[in-house]
Amino acid sequence: MLSFSLLYLLFLAVVDLSTSTAEYLKLPLLHKTPFPTPLQSLSSDIDRLSLLRHRHHHKHHRTALKSPLISGASSGSGQYFVSLRLGSPPQTLLLVADTGSDLTWVTCSACKTNCSSHPPGSTFLSRHSSTFSPTHCFSSLCQLVPQPDPNPCNHTRLHSPCRYEYVYVDGSKTSGFFSKDTTTLNTSSGGAMKLKSLAFGCGFHVSGPSVTGLSFNGAHGVMGLGRGPISFSSQLGRRFGRSFSYCLRDYTLSPPPTSYLMIGDVRSTKKDNKSKLSYTPLLINPVAPTFYYIAIKAVFVNRVKLPIDPSVWSIDGLGNGGTVIDSGTTLTFLTEPAYLEILTAFKREVKLPSPAPGDESTHSGFDLCVNVTGVSRPRLPRLSLELAGESVFSPPPRNYFIDVSEGIKCLAIQPAESESGGFSVIGNLMQQGFLLEFDRGKSRLGFSRRGCALS
Ligand SMILES: *[C@@H]1O[C@H](CO)[C@@H](O)[C@H](O)[C@H]1NC(C)=O
Ligand SMILES: *[C@@H]1O[C@H](CO)[C@@H](O)[C@H](O)[C@H]1NC(C)=O
Ligand SMILES: *[C@@H]1O[C@H](CO)[C@@H](O)[C@H](O)[C@H]1NC(C)=O
Ligand SMILES: *[C@@H]1O[C@H](CO)[C@@H](O)[C@H](O)[C@H]1NC(C)=O
Ligand SMILES: *[C@@H]1O[C@H](CO)[C@@H](O)[C@H](O)[C@H]1NC(C)=O
Repeated sequence: MLSFSLLYLLFLAVVDLSTSTAEYLKLPLLHKTPFPTPLQSLSSDIDRLSLLRHRHHHKHHRTALKSPLISGASSGSGQYFVSLRLGSPPQTLLLVADTGSDLTWVTCSACKTNCSSHPPGSTFLSRHSSTFSPTHCFSSLCQLVPQPDPNPCNHTRLHSPCRYEYVYVDGSKTSGFFSKDTTTLNTSSGGAMKLKSLAFGCGFHVSGPSVTGLSFNGAHGVMGLGRGPISFSSQLGRRFGRSFSYCLRDYTLSPPPTSYLMIGDVRSTKKDNKSKLSYTPLLINPVAPTFYYIAIKAVFVNRVKLPIDPSVWSIDGLGNGGTVIDSGTTLTFLTEPAYLEILTAFKREVKLPSPAPGDESTHSGFDLCVNVTGVSRPRLPRLSLELAGESVFSPPPRNYFIDVSEGIKCLAIQPAESESGGFSVIGNLMQQGFLLEFDRGKSRLGFSRRGCALS
């Protein structure tokens, strides 16, 4: 009898509202830049990187679960947002899609009747959802989130909510109750699906520049897609297979094409065999288990292999170094010795004039800029990354040369500082136009330049 009811509950957990079988979830990604200048994205990227480093620094702090986490919340520009319908009836919220963090959280209000200061869509009204429930502070689920210290958990009380506290390096903070509610998600067949018991942070207190105001760009929270057990992709992976993918389309095109985040196995359901993916293993850094690490073996500029010692790419015994693929960082940051070789090779290969000295304000943050005014098809050097697993990632130049002003393009790669364990980050600009499949079951990253047609 008991096993029957457990089974029954399991079946209840997913209510498929679509008529045809739902193959995978398909969530549109919105691209937003609050300040559409590359320098702004550079400075917010640097904020984000300092948070990523901060996480590294706290590796030996108390228990891993209590150490501060990081999120794309820190970086305001060049972000991809995903909309989430939470509660019963559903309330629509806009979240930053972040492969660099685990916790999914939304701003919450406990107002019940007089919610005039919270117009619909401005925050999650937990008391307006009939299915909302905080998890208990003594539950095993609660042990997976960072908790405030001291933590007033009374395990003998029936209603003692699980408190979480998520602190950022700049003092920004979100705290509240780690809760559960139903979420309604769109599937690839155009239907909708209800999933019960999505665990997320209901943020009653949200403060600080990283998670409020302009830099947060109107988002209501963060969707954590990292590798930890509480991330959105981990929770939904139980239903959809442990894989998610996205294709970030070039948002500078007009009209901007829609990008999608897909949760589930897109390719097996599409029976696709044209867009063959290349694969590289996803590596785990025990010090930063949230992140998706890949291994760079060699770098080529115009097919010439650069003299970079392979050891500059490795993760050392302390968890420093390595290369993370991250949706929440815009530019790409490469470990300094490699960056300097790449810069030298690019400077040698580029056959275009530098911008005239004078107004440097538009490109002062970059080491290499070219003036392509009047050049119909500027020839820019081709970059290729040879990855572990004998795969080669060859992005088009628009993934690493950005327009900073009319006719001026700059190399959108920056050096990752080596002090504080500078690791490399492949940012979202470099990922544009590729289908990226985070295949967690097989611990590998698939990529294809022809796969975007699938999404
Ligand atoms: C609702 O709140 C507003 C201000 O926040 C107040 O002026 C109004 O009287 C309140 N209405 C009720 C029914 O409590
Ligand atoms: C925990 O809750 C129980 C029941 O409500 C109460 O008797 C007890 O004093 C509480 N303990 C603490 C430490 O607050
Ligand atoms: C889900 O699909 C419906 C109908 O296709 C669409 O109107 C809606 O915006 C979608 N919602 C989300 C959150 O993607
Ligand atoms: C793969 O492609 C071949 C030829 O293009 C086609 O005949 C076959 O049905 C395809 N396989 C699947 C699984 O779609
Ligand atoms: C770029 O080149 C054009 C044409 O040669 C020139 O008119 C313009 O001043 C240059 N701009 C800069 C910033 O160098």
